[in-house]
Amino acid sequence: VSISQDNARVTASLPTGESVEVLLYGATVISWKCKGKENLFLSSKAHLDGSKAVRGGIPLVFPVFGPPPANHATTGLPQHGFARISKWEYLGKSSSESSATPSNTGDASVKLDFGLSNTMLENIPSEWKKYQFGITYSVTLNKEDLETSLAIRNTGTTDWEFHTLFHTYLAVDNISQVSIKGLESSSYKDKTQGGKEVQGTSGPITIAGEVDRNYSLDPSKTIVVAEKNKPRYEISRDMLGDVVVWNPWESKAKSMADFGPEDGYKNMVCVEAGSVLAWNTLEAGDTWEGGQRIQVL
Ligand code: BG6
Repeated sequence: VSISQDNARVTASLPTGESVEVLLYGATVISWKCKGKENLFLSSKAHLDGSKAVRGGIPLVFPVFGPPPANHATTGLPQHGFARISKWEYLGKSSSESSATPSNTGDASVKLDFGLSNTMLENIPSEWKKYQFGITYSVTLNKEDLETSLAIRNTGTTDWEFHTLFHTYLAVDNISQVSIKGLESSSYKDKTQGGKEVQGTSGPITIAGEVDRNYSLDPSKTIVVAEKNKPRYEISRDMLGDVVVWNPWESKAKSMADFGPEDGYKNMVCVEAGSVLAWNTLEAGDTWEGGQRIQVL
């Protein structure tokens, strides 16, 4: 396993060629290569210098999803919270390099840990500034999958509420050939229709226009993203019962200054595992743990 790091990013690669690249800004995974392909979409106009949340990769949403509501401790925070726009600390790696035996191919894996705590942040523009927390974010690169998991601790003496979500921009070859299986029978809140509740359908989800939906789906159920009917990604979740499906489509993509190339919306779909439809209460002294695993099929 090889690791390189500077004060802006950490890159890890396995002897078999898979790699992952994580910016300390937001602890944003900006590249994940597996089976010879890039699996995350990164906008060609994304800001990677810490001046704006990264458009692409896996931005982390915490402690609020979307625009913060009124009269809540998150009121005044930026959309999707501060985790994705804060500089995280690289805590180190643990790797396993098992040697090949008749029953195992000797696959290596590497786990990178990143930390963020209230003591690292200045000027949180909301009531949140009085809360204390410590988050460990682990990014594990295996030969055929990427795992991202969070351990969120309330290190203070008052309880607080949070949302969290992995805003994963999956790379696809052509959105018109993409189908998403596993969510279809669930009803969803359609944000393109003011949050209207829409009943599920029977066939897989296909995308032919702007899509911005909030689903709830038992974490024991997996979601498969297929292209030309061939399964490409399988997403498994732990403690993350909500799933957002988002594609801005043509005109919304054009209206985002950091979205490129102009037709890049054809090469991405966000399938975002999170816990965002209701607040999670974290009691003083407690730790919440959750994560996702994306397997390349
Ligand atoms: C999605 C939301 O998760 O994120 C969308 O459902 C939103 O409503 C999108 O537009 C992108 O958000 P942002 O803040 O990264 O532009």
